[in-house]
Amino acid sequence: MKIYKEIVFLLQKNNYICTYQNIKINFMYTSKIKGTGYYVPENIITNEDLTKLMDTTDEWIKERTGIEQRRHATKGKDTTTNMGVRAAQMAIENAKIDKSEIDFLIFATLSPDYYFPGCGVLAQKELNLNTIGALDIRNQCSGFVYALSVADQFIKTGMYKNILVIGAEIQSPALDMTTRGRNVSVIFGDGAGAVVLSRSDNNKQGILSSHLHSEGVHAEELAMISPGVTNKWVPELIKENNPDDTSYYPYMNGQFVFKNAVVRFSEVIMEGLKTNNLTKEDINLLIPHQANLRISQFIQQKFQLTDSQVFNNIQKYGNTTAASIPIALAEAVEQGRIKENDLVVLAAFGSGFTWGSVIIRW
Ligand code: COA
Repeated sequence: MKIYKEIVFLLQKNNYICTYQNIKINFMYTSKIKGTGYYVPENIITNEDLTKLMDTTDEWIKERTGIEQRRHATKGKDTTTNMGVRAAQMAIENAKIDKSEIDFLIFATLSPDYYFPGCGVLAQKELNLNTIGALDIRNQCSGFVYALSVADQFIKTGMYKNILVIGAEIQSPALDMTTRGRNVSVIFGDGAGAVVLSRSDNNKQGILSSHLHSEGVHAEELAMISPGVTNKWVPELIKENNPDDTSYYPYMNGQFVFKNAVVRFSEVIMEGLKTNNLTKEDINLLIPHQANLRISQFIQQKFQLTDSQVFNNIQKYGNTTAASIPIALAEAVEQGRIKENDLVVLAAFGSGFTWGSVIIRW
C-alpha cells in the first residue's frame, strides 16, 4: 500500500505514464474550460445593406441561411489579432487567472493579419505574454475544434496548465461583394472568440473526448486559391491584375458543402457520444459551428433535440468560421444556458473538408 501511494505520488508529481510490475499506469489530467470570451466588430451589415451591393433579398438570405445580419471589420481599427486579443482578455478575466499563468497559446484563423508570421505570435505580443509557445491552426470552420483538441492533449499529458485558445476572423475584405459572389458573401462575417483551457484534477468534469477528421479530396469545393504557390505566383497575379480572376475570392460549391455537412456533423456527434457511452438524450447543449441555420435545424431534427438543447446565433453574426463556436460558447455561458455538469457538445464542419467534435462535461 505504501509503495502504491509512493508511486501515485510520483506519477502525480512527474505526470508520467509508466509501468509498475508490468501494470501500465496511465495518469492523465483533465482539462476544463475555465473562462470564455468574445468580441465582434461594431459595424453591423444587415441583409438590406447587401441588397444595395448585389442582386439579393432579405427573404432569400433568411430563407436559405437564417442570417439577418453580420458584423464587418473596420479597416485601420480591427485586425484579426486585436479582435482575438479582446476576446482573450475577456476569457482570461472570466477564468480569474493572471495572464502570466498562461503557458501556451493556440490561434485558429483562415484570415491572418499577415501571410506570415501567424496571429499566434502577434497575440502573444499584444497580450504581452511571457515567451510561451504560440501555435497557429489553419482548419477553417473546424479550426476552433481542432485547436481545442490540441490544447486538451497538451493539458491531459501535463505539459501545460493554462492554454489560451483563440478563434478569430476578418473575412469581409476578401469577399466578392457583387452579384457574382453573392452565394458566399451573404453568409460570412467577422468576429472573435476565446477560451482558457486549464488543468483540473476532477476527472468527472471537463473535456471527455475530441474527434477530428478530414477529407482533402474535396479541398477545392470550398477554397480560396490565391495567393498561393500552386495556381499563380504573386508576381503573375500582380502583373495580370485581372478583375475577372476569381481565384482571389472564396469559392464554395454550396449544395455539395451542405450535403456533406449534414452527414459529417451527424457522424462526428454520434462518434463522440458513443465513445463516452452516451446517447443523444444526454445532450444538454449542442453548439454546432454556425455554418447555416438550415444545417443546424437539420441536425436538431435528426437528433430530436428541442430548441433549448441547440444554441444558434448565426442570425446575428453570420458564419464567422473559426470564431463561430467560441463566440457561441461565450454567449451561451453569458446567457446562463450552461450549468455545471451539463453535457455540452461542440461540432464543426468546413473547408478542407475538415470536421470534428468535442464532448464536454461542464
Ligand atoms: N441571393 C439571391 N439569389 C442567390 C444568392 C443570393 N445571395 N446566392 C445564390 N443565389 C441564386 C443562385 O444564383 C441560383 O440561381 P439560379 O437558380 O438562377 O441559378 C439560386 O439562387 C439557387 O442557388 P443554389 O446555390 O442552388 O442555392 P442553395 O439553395 O444551395 O443555397 C447556399 C445556397 C449557399 C445558401 C447553400 O447551398 C448552403 O448554405 N450551403 C452550405 C454552405 C455552408 O454551410 N458553408 C459553410 C460551411 S462551413
